[in-house]
Amino acid sequence: MTLKDIFQEFVEKDKTAELGGGEKAVEKQKRAGKQTARERIDMLLDDNTFAEIDKFILHDSHNYNMQNKRVPGDGVVSGYGKIEGRLVYVYAYDFTVYGGSLSRTNANKIVKVQKLALKNGAPIIALNDSGGARIQEGVMALSGYSEIFNQNVKSSGVIPQISAILGPCAGGACYSPALTDYIFMVKDESYMFVTGPDVVKTVTHEELTKEELGGASVHSSKSGVAHFVGNDEEETLMMIRELISFLPSNNMEDPPLTTTRDTNTRKTTGIEELIPEDSNIPYDIKQLIEEVVDENYFFEVMSQFAKNVVIGFARMGGQPVGIVANQPAYLAGVLDIDASDKAARFIRFCDCFDIPLITFVDVPGFLPGRDQEHNGIIRHGAKIMYAYVEATVPKITLITRKAYGGAYVVMSSKESGADLNLAYPNSEIAVMGAEGAVNILYRSSNEEERKEAIKEYSNLFSNPYRAAEKGYIDEIILPADTRIKIIQGLEMTANKTASNPPKKHGNSPL
Ligand code: HXC
Repeated sequence: MTLKDIFQEFVEKDKTAELGGGEKAVEKQKRAGKQTARERIDMLLDDNTFAEIDKFILHDSHNYNMQNKRVPGDGVVSGYGKIEGRLVYVYAYDFTVYGGSLSRTNANKIVKVQKLALKNGAPIIALNDSGGARIQEGVMALSGYSEIFNQNVKSSGVIPQISAILGPCAGGACYSPALTDYIFMVKDESYMFVTGPDVVKTVTHEELTKEELGGASVHSSKSGVAHFVGNDEEETLMMIRELISFLPSNNMEDPPLTTTRDTNTRKTTGIEELIPEDSNIPYDIKQLIEEVVDENYFFEVMSQFAKNVVIGFARMGGQPVGIVANQPAYLAGVLDIDASDKAARFIRFCDCFDIPLITFVDVPGFLPGRDQEHNGIIRHGAKIMYAYVEATVPKITLITRKAYGGAYVVMSSKESGADLNLAYPNSEIAVMGAEGAVNILYRSSNEEERKEAIKEYSNLFSNPYRAAEKGYIDEIILPADTRIKIIQGLEMTANKTASNPPKKHGNSPL
C-alpha cells in the first residue's frame, strides 16, 4: 500500500464512522424531526471548530451476538470546540446507534471528556438523545452511568455543566442532567422520566402519554426540572450559546466582560410610572429589571416555573450579574416552596461562578396555608437564607415596595450579609402589613380604634426610614437613579474579598 492509499483508507473509514448507525437510521432520525448528533454539535459550536475524539472506539460486548454489530464511535460523539471563540467540551448521544444507549465503552468516552473539561477548566455540554442503559450490557452500562454521575458531582461548582435533552431521556439516565447546572428541553420533542408510561400504568393505573408524563412543558412549568425550553433544536442550541456568554469558563475565572452601548449614568425614568400608587396593585417586575440592565436585555431562567420569583442573567456596565426578584404580578410576589427552591439554587450557582447578585425585593411574606406548611415551607424557605448568607459574591439589594416579615429577612437583607441595601422612598419595611398587625395588637378594639391603629402602624412602618435610621438600609434612592446606584454598588464591591469559615462543606437544608 502506498502512503496515498493509506491516507485514502483513513478517509473512507472516517466517512463510515461519521454515518453513525447508517443511512436508514439517519433517515428515521430525520423523520422524527431530529438532527443527527454531529449536526447538532455543528449547530452549537462556532463554525469549523469541532475536534472529535474517540471516533473509532468500539464496544467489546459479546452478549446477543454484539461482537458482530460494532459501530465506530459506539453511539456517542465527543470532543471539544468553541462558542464565541471560547473553549467548551461537548458530547452528544447518537440515537442512530442502538438508540443512543449507554455502553461501558461510550461511558468511558464521556468520562474522558468530562475529565478533560475539569482539568482544563472549560464548560461541558451534553446533548442527550438516548434509550438509556444498553440493555445487552447489563451492569456494565450501569457502572458507566455511575462514573458519569461521579464526574458530574466532582465538576459541580468548578466548571459550568449544561445538559440539553433532544429526545428521550429515561430511567437513571435523567440523573446526569439533574446533577448539572442547567437543563434545556425542546418543545414536543424531548421527554424525561424515571419510569415510563408503561411502568406508571402497571404500578399506579394512570394512563399518560410520554409528553404528559415528562415533556418539556411539564418539566419547565410543574416539576422545575428544566430551566429552558426551545421551540426547536436550533433555538435550543442557540440558547445554550447565549447562556455560555454570561458565564466564566471555570470557578477561578471572572465572568466575561463585554462592551455595551448603554451608559452607566442613564436615568431609569420609566420606573416611576411603573409602580402603582396603591401598593396592593401589581406591576411586572420584569419591566423594572429591563429598564435597569444594559440595553434592556434580561435573559430569564425558569420563566414558566414558580413565576412569583424571577431569576436570570443580565449585564450592568458590561459585567454579567445574576438577578433575583419577587414578582408582584404573580401571587403578589409571595414566597412559597417552589419559589424558594428556584431562587436558592440560582443564588448558589451565581456564587459558584463569581457572578454578583442583584436582588429586587417586593414581597408580602411567605405563603400561608396547610399545603405549604405540610410540604415543608420551613425547610424550603430556609434554603434562600442559607444560599444568600453562604454567597460571598457582591450582593446588592433594592427594596422597590414591600418587604415584610421573614421574607424581608431572607431576601438578601443587610443583616443576612448584603453589601449594599437600597430602598425607594415608597418602601414598606415591617413585620407584617398594617391590617394584619392591628388584627393581632387590637383584637378587642372597636372599628374606630382599629382604623386609627392601622393609620398609626402605617405611618410608623410603611416607609423605609425606620430601617434607614438603624443602618439596615444604606441609602434611600429615587427610582430614576436605580441604574446609576446599582452600577456604583458593583464598582464599590468589585474587589470584594470574603470567605466562609473553613469546613468540609456546609449542610444546606434540602
Ligand atoms: C439497546 C436500544 C435501547 C437500549 C433503544 N434501543 N433503546 N438498544 N439498549 N436501552 C434500540 C432499539 O432496539 C432500536 O434498535 C433502536 O435503538 C431505536 O429504538 P426504537 O425503539 O426503534 O425507537 P423509538 O420508537 O423512537 O423509541 C425510543 C425509546 C425506546 C422510547 C427510547 O427505544 C425504548 O423504550 N427503549 C428502551 C428504554 C429503556 O427502558 N431503557 C432502559 C432504561 S433503565 P433497532 O436495531 O431496532 O433499530 C436505565 C437504567 C440507567 O437506563 C440507570 C442509571 C443509574
